[in-house]
Amino acid sequence: MEDGFFSVLVVDSHPESAALFEKSLCAGSEFPAHVEITASVPEALKKIKMRSYDMFLVEAAFHRSQETAPLLDSIHTLELPMPFVLMTPIFDDKLLRAAKQAGIANLLVMSENHYDDFASRLKRIHEEFKKGVRSKPGEAAFFDLTREKSDNKRDSFGHEPGSIMDELTGICTHSYFQQRVVEEFSRATRYKYPVSCLFLDIDHFKVINEEKGYHAGDLLLRECADFLFENCRISDVIARYGSTEFSILLPFSNYKESMEMARRIRLRFAAHDFKLGVEIVNLSVSIGVASYPEDTMSRRGDLIAFSRHALLRSKATGRNRVTQYRHVENHPGFEIPVPKIEESRVLEFQRKLSEVVELAKRGSLEAARALIQALETKDHHTAGHGTMCAKYARFIAETLGMSVEDCEAIEQGSLLHDIGKICVEDEILLKPAKLTFQEYEIMKQHPYLGYKILRPIRFLREEATYVLHHHEWFNGEGYPGRLKGNDIPLGARIISVVDSFDTIRAAGARYKKTYPTCEAAQELVRYSGIQFDPRVVKVFIDVLKVRRELSAGDYDQVLLDQKIAELPDKDEPLYVPREF
Ligand SMILES: [Fe+2]
Ligand SMILES: [Fe+2]
Repeated sequence: MEDGFFSVLVVDSHPESAALFEKSLCAGSEFPAHVEITASVPEALKKIKMRSYDMFLVEAAFHRSQETAPLLDSIHTLELPMPFVLMTPIFDDKLLRAAKQAGIANLLVMSENHYDDFASRLKRIHEEFKKGVRSKPGEAAFFDLTREKSDNKRDSFGHEPGSIMDELTGICTHSYFQQRVVEEFSRATRYKYPVSCLFLDIDHFKVINEEKGYHAGDLLLRECADFLFENCRISDVIARYGSTEFSILLPFSNYKESMEMARRIRLRFAAHDFKLGVEIVNLSVSIGVASYPEDTMSRRGDLIAFSRHALLRSKATGRNRVTQYRHVENHPGFEIPVPKIEESRVLEFQRKLSEVVELAKRGSLEAARALIQALETKDHHTAGHGTMCAKYARFIAETLGMSVEDCEAIEQGSLLHDIGKICVEDEILLKPAKLTFQEYEIMKQHPYLGYKILRPIRFLREEATYVLHHHEWFNGEGYPGRLKGNDIPLGARIISVVDSFDTIRAAGARYKKTYPTCEAAQELVRYSGIQFDPRVVKVFIDVLKVRRELSAGDYDQVLLDQKIAELPDKDEPLYVPREF
């Protein structure tokens, strides 16, 4: 810095850019700077050898033509302490990826409007560079200039030594990742900053390869890599580590930050629609997390080994979850003997067992679904009722921000809620006339019968409870347990709402009512606080509006809001996520 001014070197081939830079970085701006503009890379090389600059901006076109390589090498050789930023007219994902692979800092979007806050953006980049902070793409920059030569071996995918990019996915290779871990770990220990590692494996990918073929599997892997790339910070190093394994290095992130990131990735991954042509594929991911210095590490490779160890635990305990290494290591409560064989072997068998359990779970669910189909085939009035309830219940659960596991349990519980009716005699089940008192009493046993059918299936215990209570009323007047308010499981309260909605709407449609959806929604509101949890009703009405099944004019929202406001426990959260 000279005379209180920053010095900025710009490589830009457009003559009109000079005026814009000078205007944005003039003496009165937030980041007053001396700007030197060159139109060629060789000239820029000469300049950086002759004097020092505080920042280096290069037009992205130079990077596309690979002219920036000698600049990067010079900066590396001369160990120049300045942020290096590529300027681009639009945010360009491919360019960002290529820049990152080359070890460049970040992209700076330079459309006309962006010149307005150009000075403050440069100032932020500079400050964060000085502090060593790394931020999101397009926002700020941090530079990594260190690139050592890799070893002479090919990595497990057969990449050449020094190869940075995995050909299939376009993200870093396994060998480059290991190299970067060594560098970041050494730097973290030297300068006392945290560094974390996430290890990820896509759940049940083997089934995808077997069912859809390896080519489809490859396309999905590429999509997964793109997904990770979009959901990580520019400073994170993302690599394909094994056939379906990915690893992410998070410099400057401690346990808390890296766990937040891992949880966010897990949730978004499960909610993401991966596409195979026109087909949508939903996937989940298991993650292990390790962090330095919070985990005691003696070797540079421990960061990878520990996070991978935690991943094995995630897979062995049900998948689609995040595990911290320190929780794998610390067994609370009592001392256990140290095993004489490697824990990885135990975890491997746990993983195999969990695969068998998962297959059994799918089998049980298929059998239960077949029963529901048999029931709905008997009574054409109820055809599709379970599926419709499951669809709406899932929308409500997702709107409430429920975990993937809870959403799944509620969806399945809704699908199976009337499964107990399969035990009721056809004379009663299919009787077209009104049921007698005794017949009605028999019919009322179907929640308990459904519970008895599902309860022995270990994987459907949560669902069994929802089925048992789906006819409870919010005011305690329902059956079979006469539970009241929040004592009724939330899943059962949701099923109660969607069950009644679909039944009323289907009946309305049968009798050719003009607005069966509107009428069914009004009925839910009328019985809010009596039969239904008003907060669930409100969420459901919102879902119907968002899905345009109910127009704003169809229903007066104010009435419902007033009703909800009268509730004494309205401040209690409707859903509290379970921690893993
Ligand atoms: Fe029912
Ligand atoms: Fe039902």
